[in-house]
Order: sequence, then structure tokens, then C-alpha cells
Amino acid sequence: MSENAEDKAVSIPAQSDGAEASSTDTKASGTATLSKDAAPGETLLKVTGLQKHFPIKKGLLQRQVGAVRAVDGLDFEVRSGETLGVVGESGCGKSTMGRLITRLLEPTAGKIEFEGKDITHLGVSGMRPMRRDVQMIFQDPYSSLNPRHTIGTIVGAPFRLQGVEPEGGVKKEVQRLLSVVGLNPEHYNRYPHEFSGGQRQRIGIARALALKPKLVVADEPVSALDVSIQAQVVNLMDDLQEELGLTYVIIAHDLSVVRHVSDRIAVMYLGKIVELADRDSLYRAPMHPYTKALMSAVPIPDPRRKSAKSERILLKGDVPSPIAPPSGCRFHTRCWKATEICRTTEPVLLELQPGQRVACHHPENFEDQAPQDTVLLTAAKEAAELVADEVLAESAETSAAVAAELAEETAEASAEASAADTPADTAEESARENTPAEASDAGSDSEAGSATGSETESQESTDK
Ligand SMILES: Nc1ncnc2c1ncn2[C@@H]1O[C@H](COP(=O)(O)OP(=O)(O)OP(=O)(O)O)[C@@H](O)[C@H]1O
Ligand code: SF4
Ligand SMILES: [Mg+2]
Repeated sequence: MSENAEDKAVSIPAQSDGAEASSTDTKASGTATLSKDAAPGETLLKVTGLQKHFPIKKGLLQRQVGAVRAVDGLDFEVRSGETLGVVGESGCGKSTMGRLITRLLEPTAGKIEFEGKDITHLGVSGMRPMRRDVQMIFQDPYSSLNPRHTIGTIVGAPFRLQGVEPEGGVKKEVQRLLSVVGLNPEHYNRYPHEFSGGQRQRIGIARALALKPKLVVADEPVSALDVSIQAQVVNLMDDLQEELGLTYVIIAHDLSVVRHVSDRIAVMYLGKIVELADRDSLYRAPMHPYTKALMSAVPIPDPRRKSAKSERILLKGDVPSPIAPPSGCRFHTRCWKATEICRTTEPVLLELQPGQRVACHHPENFEDQAPQDTVLLTAAKEAAELVADEVLAESAETSAAVAAELAEETAEASAEASAADTPADTAEESARENTPAEASDAGSDSEAGSATGSETESQESTDK
């Protein structure tokens, strides 16, 4: 996770999110034997062309009539010791991606490698050793713990399932794990209903840590919790990462949860990664218009900004259906910069700057990738009405500056080569056309189509 100490604003009270259990902060002593060797920076997980299409079947014969393209070609890697945040609107395929990389789902296509080993289609026995190394924390701590089992049984389940006998016995080890996550070991015999939401999520974390995993995939680990408890659980995960050398993939539907804890962030839209960058680059200069929209949906208190409200980008309409995603760039139906090429040609995820991969023909904060294509689509003109003046002006400024710089370079090169007329201002002109600052003069406060989308309760299977 982030090394920036300032980011970690909230310290973790070991047991402050409920009244039932008393505080027991034995984390320091408890983690000594949990520590493991990590190889920081090395690729732990590599995903290539990953797809998951859920078939849609109809009729008596259950014939396949289509498919939900939940995950539609992902390429990324997770490095040892890092936290990769994955964000995107509801339904964009985040949970499906999480379940694919933990091999709870069988991929339709693509490749998953863990520590260099191809695990894409491993069977049950082949997966057994891998199950110890890769664990998942689920969104809803209320439905992911079996209400009929005691905490001891729940946290001890991985030992039984894997046939592992920890030193000192399962009970002792479970009690130690409860201490590690800031719970009272005395509560070994209690049931989930006796705990608050935050405490239940700590139980889920203890269960995930039982077998000393290398990779933990946390699917919206705090979105079911109160805001005050969210910070505690996130900070607990952050501390455990440092102490245990864990690697995280943290899934969230907006940037507010992952922005403090992620080293790198992947932004997903309709089953694809549209931008993947280290956190600082992403915040300093987002390149994909969708990232910019997501970021503007997160209120950032900054006195230098005149009015945070007027700077919000409100995306028009819902995310299109993953059954029939839009042609070309999947975001073109909602993007205020979309031109014909966006409708016809899918942009490739390219590393435009070191550590920043983007799939966009007309990226923000970078030179235009299709400067010849300047005529906005009708949908883009309508979308622009929902983008605040300041955002458009800023986009226009950046694009014009980049274009001018490029034009200058071209002019210099041409002059040197004694070529005659260099259209230095053509690029500026096209950039202006491309980012219609004057197109929007209203609608910035419209409530339609919030960029964060709605929260969908996903039902997690009990006690995996
Ligand atoms: N088992 C399934 N069968 C059919 N379609 C599915 C299945 N699981 C997910 N989907 C569909 O795949 C798409 C992606 O779902 P997924 O749960 O991965 O999205 P998400 O990004 O996690 O959303 P949320 O933020 O709401 O949790 C959705 O359209 C969903 O309806
Ligand atoms: S400018 Fe075009 S390619 Fe880029 S996000 Fe918008 S629609 Fe997609
Ligand atoms: Mg989900």
C-alpha cells in the first residue's frame, strides 16, 4: 500500500467498532510467526486476455442465445507486496474479475499465471496448494459468515479444508488470528450475530489470513460498513499488509476507498481496463475521460478549488449492457470527447507514459492519438452539457497546450528541413474543436447519471 504516512489519517483502534468484545491489541506479538518472505516488486500474478462470458440460455432446449460479456479481455499484472485498486461502476465486471483470478470461476478465455505457473484451467487437486496462497475477502460480512457456526469454526475452517494442523493446534492458532485482527480471542465460541459489521469483517479477514496467503483479493471489503468503520478496516488491512508482506487486489466501486491505499489503480469500464496507472500519476493527470469522471465524483476538500460542486462531471445515462457493448470504444456513448474513430475503432490499452496505460483516442493530459478526427459525435455534444465548464475549459487548455507544443516541434523540424508552410495553428484549432469548451454552459448540477453508479448487493457464498 501507499507509503505516504499522511494518507493514513485514521489509526486503528483494535476493537472500537462494537460494544460486545473488549479491546485486545495483540497484533504486534501475534504477527511475529505470520511473517513470510516476499519478493517485493516481482510479478506475482499475470493476467493475459482474460475473458468471462456468461451464456444466456432460452427455451426448453436451453439453447444459448447470447452472452453477458462480464469480463472481456483484461491484461494486467499484480506485483508482490503492492496493492492494486480496481474501480468502476456497478456491473463493469470487477467481482467477476476477482473470482476469476482467485479461480472461483472458470475463465472463458485468456491466461492466469500465479508465480509463473499457468493456473488458468487447473482442476480441484491442482488448485489445492494454490488455494492456500490466494484468498478472498467478501463484500458483505453479514452473508459471508455462516450464522450457525461459531467464530472458532469459521476462522478454523481453512485448516480443516486444507488438512493443515498448525503448531499448537487449531484453537490456539485461531485465537492468535483473532488477536491479529484486533478481536478478543475469548470470543472463539461466539456466533456471528453477536458481532457488529466491522467486527464481522475482521473475522472475514482473520479467516482469509489463516493459511498465510500471498495474495488477498478483497471485493468491496468495506462498502457494507459505516463510513467511520470503513477507515478502521482499511487501516487494519494496510497494517497487516506491511506486517505480513501481503499483496492485495482491492475492488471498489469508486475511488474514495482505494485512493489512500493503492499503489496502482486499474479503472474498469464494461468488462475492460481503460486506464491502469500508479496512483500518483492517476491523480495528478488522469488520461482517460472516464477516470476523470470517476475522480470528479469523489469530493476532495481543497480550499484552492472555488467550488467542488461545479467541477463535477455527471455522466449521462447508465452503463450500456454487457450483452451488446457499444462498438469501438465502449465509453463512446457517454464520452464528451467522442468522435467517429471512437465509434468505429476500439482503442488499445497503450503505455502512453511510463507506468500509465490508457485506452483512448483523445486522452486527457496527453497528446491526441487521433488528431485528424475532430468532429464530435452527437452523443458527445449531449454529454458535454453534463460536464462542468471548468472541466471542459481545463481539457481544452491541456489539449491546446499539448497540440501547440507538438505543432511547434513540427514547425521547427520543418523549418530545419526547409519545408514551406507548417500549419502551426491547425493543431490548436483541432484541439479546440475536439474539446468544446464553449459547448457547455449549463447542466453541471444535474442529478442525472451519477458517475459512481448504484451499489448492487452481491450475494456471496457462505463460508467458502
Ligand atoms: N453468474 C452470472 N451469470 C450471468 N451474468 C452474471 C453472473 N455474474 C455476473 N454477471 C453479470 O456480469 C456483469 C458483471 O458483474 P459483476 O458482479 O462482476 O460486476 P461488478 O463490477 O462487481 O458490479 P458491482 O459493483 O455491482 O458489484 C453484470 O452485468 C452481471 O449481471
Ligand atoms: S475520447 Fe473516444 S476513445 Fe477516448 S474515452 Fe472518449 S470515446 Fe473513448
Ligand atoms: Mg461486485
